[in-house]
Amino acid sequence: MLNSLPKRPPDKIIKLIQEFRDDPRDRKLDLGVGVYRDASGITPIMRAVKTAEKRLWETESTKTYTGMVGEAAFRHAMVRLVLGRNAPFDRIASASAPGGTGAIHQGLELVKEGSPNARIWVPDPSWPNHRSMAAHLGFDVEFYRYFDFENRNADFDGMCEDLSGVSRGDVVILHGCCHNPTGADLNRGQWFKLADLLLEREAVALVDIAYQGFGDGLDEDATGVRHLASRLPEMLVAASCSKNFGIYRERTGVLLAMSEQASVAGSVQGTLTHLNRQNFSFPPDHGSRLVTMVLEDGELRSEWEAELAEIRDNLRMLRSMLASELHQRTGSDRFGFVAEHRGMFSLMGASPEQVNAIREKFGIYMVGDGRVNVAGLSKDTVPMLADALVSAGI
Ligand code: LMR
Repeated sequence: MLNSLPKRPPDKIIKLIQEFRDDPRDRKLDLGVGVYRDASGITPIMRAVKTAEKRLWETESTKTYTGMVGEAAFRHAMVRLVLGRNAPFDRIASASAPGGTGAIHQGLELVKEGSPNARIWVPDPSWPNHRSMAAHLGFDVEFYRYFDFENRNADFDGMCEDLSGVSRGDVVILHGCCHNPTGADLNRGQWFKLADLLLEREAVALVDIAYQGFGDGLDEDATGVRHLASRLPEMLVAASCSKNFGIYRERTGVLLAMSEQASVAGSVQGTLTHLNRQNFSFPPDHGSRLVTMVLEDGELRSEWEAELAEIRDNLRMLRSMLASELHQRTGSDRFGFVAEHRGMFSLMGASPEQVNAIREKFGIYMVGDGRVNVAGLSKDTVPMLADALVSAGI
């Protein structure tokens, strides 16, 4: 049996981690996988998380199993964080999952149960795992235009035109904020129009929100998802704590499933419990416990919000600096988009050949589609990237 397995190409983002580690050069720069790095190049444990971890170590007295969908305190805290204090709590079922990826997977599993013939609509471009996870679970995948490669903004007209082909019950994957890989988000008015369109098409939104707090602020970054929650009868949200709590390897995420009537939420909760049991039984607990402590303790929460604001400010500073260094070198405004984009990523417009050339010559690793992880830069390395991009002819 094992002999017959096909050779699978490695994931294009994850393979960069090893390739970067294997590169013997001293002067090299990892702008591949989406992790935040501080000025000294490390991915720090956030201060509030470290304090919570210490408290947990002091107070935790057992490691016995917890709930099949995780702790209610965590799930409710995440509903408040993502959907706000006015969320329709009685209509929301939820399940902890191994990271944002696990939450998306469980969301798709739920779709399989409720609407097995749904097509999954994925933005083009998107995080590559969206398409491959949906295909892996046997769904037909459709793409909708998302990005205007010329102006480097969201292609809202193209998006609406393509989404007009959505059928009743189809699922539309949306990035809640800090779009990965483009960095181009929808504005408030566009979210409003999108809600109308999804309502008219009777489509189900599956919002992947993995960078809340990295764009304009915790509440600001949730504008779109909260608006959809206020308008749509049903919705799925997959929220990750990997980036905004810096607990990547703890695999902490949650799936929220909002049904039309509160009377249905109980059976949705039962299905989510069943799906966790079938896929992995109990979800990881350590990270979600830390997140709950940080979100619910006033002091820890203020410290976390302050640190998140530092990260956000740093990202914006790096974006402005990169845009300005590119402007100085090219005399052109065409890189202004870098400062306008939000979150960790921007698509710089490099072809795969240019990405390879930059890696060979400068030891700078970016994803083959030209995605740069701005959060991997520092004041010292921004000029190195600007030189590399210009020398590759971008
Ligand atoms: C990324 O896009 O780099 C991150 O979300 C990490 C991953 O799992 O791909």
